[in-house]
Amino acid sequence: MQTLLSVSNLCKNYKRSARFLSSGFRQALGPLSFTLERGQTLCVVGESGSGKSTLVQMIAGLISPSSGEIYIKGEALSSLSQQERCKSIRMIFQDPSDSLNPKATIGRILAAPLELNTNFSTIEIDEQIHETLNLVGLLPDYLDFYPNMLSSVQQHKVALARAMILNPDIIIADEILATLDISLRFKIVNLLLDIQEKRGTSYIFVAHNMNLVRHMSDQTIVMHNGLIVENNRTEEIFNRPQAASTKHLLQSHQPDYRK
Ligand SMILES: Nc1ncnc2c1ncn2[C@@H]1O[C@H](COP(=O)(O)OP(=O)(O)OP(=O)(O)O)[C@@H](O)[C@H]1O
Ligand SMILES: [Mg+2]
Repeated sequence: MQTLLSVSNLCKNYKRSARFLSSGFRQALGPLSFTLERGQTLCVVGESGSGKSTLVQMIAGLISPSSGEIYIKGEALSSLSQQERCKSIRMIFQDPSDSLNPKATIGRILAAPLELNTNFSTIEIDEQIHETLNLVGLLPDYLDFYPNMLSSVQQHKVALARAMILNPDIIIADEILATLDISLRFKIVNLLLDIQEKRGTSYIFVAHNMNLVRHMSDQTIVMHNGLIVENNRTEEIFNRPQAASTKHLLQSHQPDYRK
């Protein structure tokens, strides 16, 4: 297998709140190091405030690390242009009804990343949009629709199509499935896995539902207080959890198995 992503000694500090009357920085995260292989799914789990969103937002380029480096295919992310980053790593936001522009048609929403990041002709843009719609299982009829005319699952599919349209190496999602009920969640997850098989995309998901984590991931990272306390093959994490926080997470999510 080929290492796609390598995170090396990544740290994030936040300025201390002024109300504590102290100066300086508080280390919220790290140092974190791990790798992800091409075509694999990594789930990041951990209690609230453990640093999951901060980590994935740094990989997605939404916030900058205080120190450390992220390498994609051996190249430092900090040395890539915005366009190169966009083509390589895309993020899907939690609530598609929020993240999809309500005033733009699905066609416009999908054309925008191609217009911004490629030199494609109008015909090539059209072809890419149709191919991507087909990939996520949406009919071309939807191109003239506005997001609020679509069901929740269809909106998720549009958000996924927008993320996939540049054929990125990695898709990142922070709790995207939390707003869907359990049967729809599995529908989207199975679609994601199907796309992964076709395109070889790698995924990094922040997830809470351990049932889904087990179903969809190859590798799991457990975070606690801004540090990685366990990083292993998912089956290993479930069968032989080592860290106290991993055991706690697995125990506290047992009720999910009855859902
Ligand atoms: N902009 C910020 N300024 C200061 N501290 C922050 C900021 N963003 C996050 N933090 C702190 O960083 C730590 C990690 O937060 P983060 O949001 O990454 O956790 P999380 O694991 O995603 O939690 P949740 O499961 O609740 O989403 C927390 O202690 C949080 O208070
Ligand atoms: Mg979070």
